[in-house]
Amino acid sequence: MTYSDKALIKEKVNSLLSKMTLNEKIGQLYQAPYFSDIVTGHSFDSSQTIKRIKGGMVGSILSVHDEDVIRKLQKTAVEESRLGIPLLFAFDVIHGYKTSFPINLALSNTWDETLVKKIAKAIAYETSHRGLHLTFSPMLDLVRDPRWGRVMESNGEDPYLSSILGKAYIEGYQQNDLSNSDSVAACAKHFIGYGHVEAGREYNTVDISKRVLYNMYLPQFKTAINANVSMIMTSFNTVFDVPATANKTLLKDILRDELKFKGVTISDYTSTEEIINHKIADDLKDVAKQCFNAGLDHEMVSESYIQHLNELVQEKTVSENDINESVKRMLSLKYELGLFDKPYAYLYENSNQYLLNESTVKLAREAAEKSIVMLKNDQILPISKDKKIVLCGPYVDSKDVIGEWAALCKKDDVTSIKEAFINSNYSNMNDETKDNVKNADIILMALGEPGSHAGEGNSKANIYLDKTQKEYFDSIRKINPNIVLIVFAGRPLIISHYHQYAKAILYAYQPGMETGNAIYNLVTGKVSPSAKLTMTLPYHEGQIPIYYNHYNTGRPYDEKRPKYRYNTRYIDCPNEPLYPFGYGLSYGNIKYLDFEIDKQIFKKYDKLSIKVTVENDNQYAVDEIVQCYIEAITYSVSRPVNELKSFKRVTFKPFEKKIIEFELSIEDFRAFNLNMEWTAEHRKYKVKVGPNSRDLISKKIEVVDEVS
Ligand code: NOJ
Repeated sequence: MTYSDKALIKEKVNSLLSKMTLNEKIGQLYQAPYFSDIVTGHSFDSSQTIKRIKGGMVGSILSVHDEDVIRKLQKTAVEESRLGIPLLFAFDVIHGYKTSFPINLALSNTWDETLVKKIAKAIAYETSHRGLHLTFSPMLDLVRDPRWGRVMESNGEDPYLSSILGKAYIEGYQQNDLSNSDSVAACAKHFIGYGHVEAGREYNTVDISKRVLYNMYLPQFKTAINANVSMIMTSFNTVFDVPATANKTLLKDILRDELKFKGVTISDYTSTEEIINHKIADDLKDVAKQCFNAGLDHEMVSESYIQHLNELVQEKTVSENDINESVKRMLSLKYELGLFDKPYAYLYENSNQYLLNESTVKLAREAAEKSIVMLKNDQILPISKDKKIVLCGPYVDSKDVIGEWAALCKKDDVTSIKEAFINSNYSNMNDETKDNVKNADIILMALGEPGSHAGEGNSKANIYLDKTQKEYFDSIRKINPNIVLIVFAGRPLIISHYHQYAKAILYAYQPGMETGNAIYNLVTGKVSPSAKLTMTLPYHEGQIPIYYNHYNTGRPYDEKRPKYRYNTRYIDCPNEPLYPFGYGLSYGNIKYLDFEIDKQIFKKYDKLSIKVTVENDNQYAVDEIVQCYIEAITYSVSRPVNELKSFKRVTFKPFEKKIIEFELSIEDFRAFNLNMEWTAEHRKYKVKVGPNSRDLISKKIEVVDEVS
């Protein structure tokens, strides 16, 4: 029996709730850790978790992925607790469970929601076949500062692209049917503004205006809610000076009332008790009161709820009715997952057979190929097989290319670049002797930062490649300048020096287990690069935060007068980034020839039809990501100079010309205006198309029906 019928679930939940004691209800609001490898918060004892499960005091379990342990804990809950309510097992499966896909920032470079959805489905399959029910993904934080270690988990700096990809993750994980035991529930995070931490320093203060929050950070969550995301996790930071985990404006007014979120809200790891450090709570009891009354359902690891909610209900500072509502949300999720009927449904014999399937690994290769951005190519790539090459650099045979949050993905499963060349019998490959370097046609050099330099808790002030690698690069280029550079990193690094000297650059981020094969296919031309950056690559770290969707300012930089003193620029560094958002090359010769729109005056129910003629003027078959932006020429408040509104990934045959069509509606012109109305004001706008956020052609239109 499945519970896709909401009314039936409601009935079941209400009936179960009526049998529960207050403590059992509170237990459903607690996510317990089990292993004692606790990194933040208090230490704890696993036997305590078992005891609590027996007492009906645990609702879900964090990060247990050993199937025997999952079975044991589930059995305890189902057979030894009074009501036998099954546990929900949650884990961070962020870019692969066992099959490792590119880190999410790299995956976003594909601009390919169909691919992302397939990947999420494949991830859900592996995850669900190992006993897990929920993944703490997708991460929807908008990112503008590459010093922040967590940019690797994001979809980059644009709210529209992040919404599209976030939805693809959710649909792939949940498959619109949580009772299907190949699917897992998704948890969108971190609500909200975490990517805005000052100076990119982890867990730092966030100071954000309401309008920026609404225009830039909320759309992704709105889309996630419309895609039926099951859970939303609060962030560690403050918003409007109140920690998100205890922030009623966020959790009740925005999430529940405005966005109509019906699922479960969960705190991040010990973020509830951290409101004491944020200096808004006295003690754990105060923590429970503030977080619960702010609207937080489920508490991760911290024990303020299980220790104090009962007492707070007795004191009448927390209402049991509110507790009932939170418990109902949690129980509904368990019913939707089918856990009451089949608490062990996700546990299988010989479960290894479900991992690393051929089709999944193939998907990982496709993802890696589509995620690596070619930033520069001075007619050196692709490499024809007769070329003498030297493979060199510390990352050429490295397996440290999986990235953080890798779940059970192992370096042993990675094919390095060198291995891929050997496996493909590339005959003209030479060792790195001085003579070989001198005589090579091409030096294929791989540099990077270790995987452990990005992810949570890994903010960096210095985002250059280290000194040893720079010296190494310089020593080689002086012998032979024909360098094709491959960069591995969990974030955009400052690579201006390398940009100056390398003949070609592939920015790979961390592509996962298929790294070597993907790079082999790309550099030898078996596949053309097609990825485009979703996070601006700065020229210099002093430019950070740097992002394409910035405001114009009163004295905008004028590239015709680069030395003019009194405008928005630096005197010691270019104004522009090294590579803008949306940028990436292919082996094709893509030309944007013609651009038409079907109307200049745009009314409420109109659709704006946009046609762009794009040509691939050479012999390579390639994919091009055609991008469409708008600009509000004026508005009641400043708006970004460009806002991405649509894009298409299009395949071109050699010498093929195509007309690419976009359709915009009035929705695409809306933003929160001066009065915080979500509207498209009666104004003039520009519609723009092009290959990236910098090189755009535009046409003007006027929106005449103001809508709200
Ligand atoms: C902390 C991280 O911020 C969050 O993203 C993650 O899901 C939880 N810990 C659980 O591991």
